[in-house]
Amino acid sequence: MVASVDAIASRIGADVMKRGGNAVDAAVAVALTLAVTWPEAGNLGGGGFMLVRKADGTTEAIDYREIAPLSASRNMYLDAEGNVIKDASLVGYKAIAVPGTVAGLAFAHKRYGKLPWPDLVEPARKLAAEGFIVSQYLARSLAVKQTVERMQRFPESWRIFQRSGKPYQAGDILVQPELAAVLKRIQSDPSDFYRGETARRIIADVQAHSGTLTAEDLARYQPTVRTPLRSMYRGYEIVTMPPPSSGGVALIEMLNMLEPYDLQAMGWHSSQEVHTVVEVMRRAYADRAKYLGDTDFTRVPVVGLTSRAYAEQRRREIDPMRASDSKTVGAGEPLGYESPQTTHFTIIDPDGAVVSNTYTLNESYGSAVTAAGTGVLLNDEMDDFTSKPGVPNTYGLIQGEANAIAPRKKPLSSMTPTLVLKDGKLWFAVGSPGGSMIINTVLEVILNVVDFGMNIQQAIDAARFHHQWLPDKINWEPFEFSRDTSDALEKMGHVFAEKPSDIGDAHAVMVDPKDRARLGASDPRRGGVAVGW
Ligand code: DON
Repeated sequence: MVASVDAIASRIGADVMKRGGNAVDAAVAVALTLAVTWPEAGNLGGGGFMLVRKADGTTEAIDYREIAPLSASRNMYLDAEGNVIKDASLVGYKAIAVPGTVAGLAFAHKRYGKLPWPDLVEPARKLAAEGFIVSQYLARSLAVKQTVERMQRFPESWRIFQRSGKPYQAGDILVQPELAAVLKRIQSDPSDFYRGETARRIIADVQAHSGTLTAEDLARYQPTVRTPLRSMYRGYEIVTMPPPSSGGVALIEMLNMLEPYDLQAMGWHSSQEVHTVVEVMRRAYADRAKYLGDTDFTRVPVVGLTSRAYAEQRRREIDPMRASDSKTVGAGEPLGYESPQTTHFTIIDPDGAVVSNTYTLNESYGSAVTAAGTGVLLNDEMDDFTSKPGVPNTYGLIQGEANAIAPRKKPLSSMTPTLVLKDGKLWFAVGSPGGSMIINTVLEVILNVVDFGMNIQQAIDAARFHHQWLPDKINWEPFEFSRDTSDALEKMGHVFAEKPSDIGDAHAVMVDPKDRARLGASDPRRGGVAVGW
């Protein structure tokens, strides 16, 4: 079973497994395909996290997050007066961090794969070379005003993603010959992206535009294997992403705070339930802002933040009748420091091995830069760092010292690929894009299944809400709250965002505990499709 945002990619993943490939083989083929068919987030020029659970139950996280270039520095996005330069960390050549995707996929394949690497690259190469039919979802994504405006600033990007001066329309055929040539070179040797012809082309283009990436940055990139975080929620085991993601720590902290409440008795989306969950979100995101960063560079109190005693201490601050004021909430005091537009897909193979993978260019189409002669869109992941403490990034996140920019450091992420186990066996695996909203999206899918008994598709379809400490407001989705619910919440002191917006795009697989059937559930918000056989 494969659940991803794109029908072509899900089908290719299922085909790989029909041919005898395992979940990691399928993940490699799906990730490379999405780089062709879902260019807003599928990528070669970005990075991500892959959580792998083998059929024998051992679990590992492959961290192929981008890193800051060697020349990066703490104040690189500030002007002479110390103010953040608008869009400098978001658009163009200076926003690009060293990409990790190709190295991460090749590493995962080497460690776990069964089928030959060239066979897994071939479907993506063919789609890039021969073209594919643009879906209504891709057309909608390409036509977003900000995307068009940004692409038009970079002629190589605009050349590729427009036809007769307009973004590609649904039904058009999109052919990407330069990207096909890159995939062909990667097919014979993935290190071409870091040390070969592709690396030379990327660096030539970046240098010609006074960018920060160098040949040495690319040549030195290595993915990292990490041990996933583990915790229990109402008797179920949660296995999730450690730093440099903030997602796993915040998710566990929120679940720990929520466990003493009977959410089911309060009722799904009752004012009391929304209030309780929002108060928990507020506190976890305040801690994220202060404490979380790349653990290879900053000491992060992971054990303290994910401990039950700390959750209980923070939970006691919550008034059941009154919204707290984020200005006075701030971060807590966890015990001791121990030493030292994104897309998600989830796959389960015939043996029961699972991959939960979130990867990204950061915003849709990343920095909007396509390295000349490669067709490779490059990320704007540098904006996930703290450009300046106290100044919000593109997701409105206020961040701190722990996430300051330094050479070769990884920007703090919210990507939260997660597994939920029952009696040591996989129950479901899920993840989502959505920037700062990712962690709460994963939280709500888990609550919908565990606390409210929804099936996995209902749990993903159901409307979601989001609070991230600052700005101090509840984000919501269209038609989510009845008037009496929102009135009750406002009376408690909660403030709603002016307009609703979509929150996240979750893709999950579940193994039915009764008959072990493999269930797939893709989010309808961006047109996802689950394919199994
Ligand atoms: O790593 C992160 O947290 C962000 N760069 C993710 C960006 C994202 O989810 C955008 N998608 N909608």
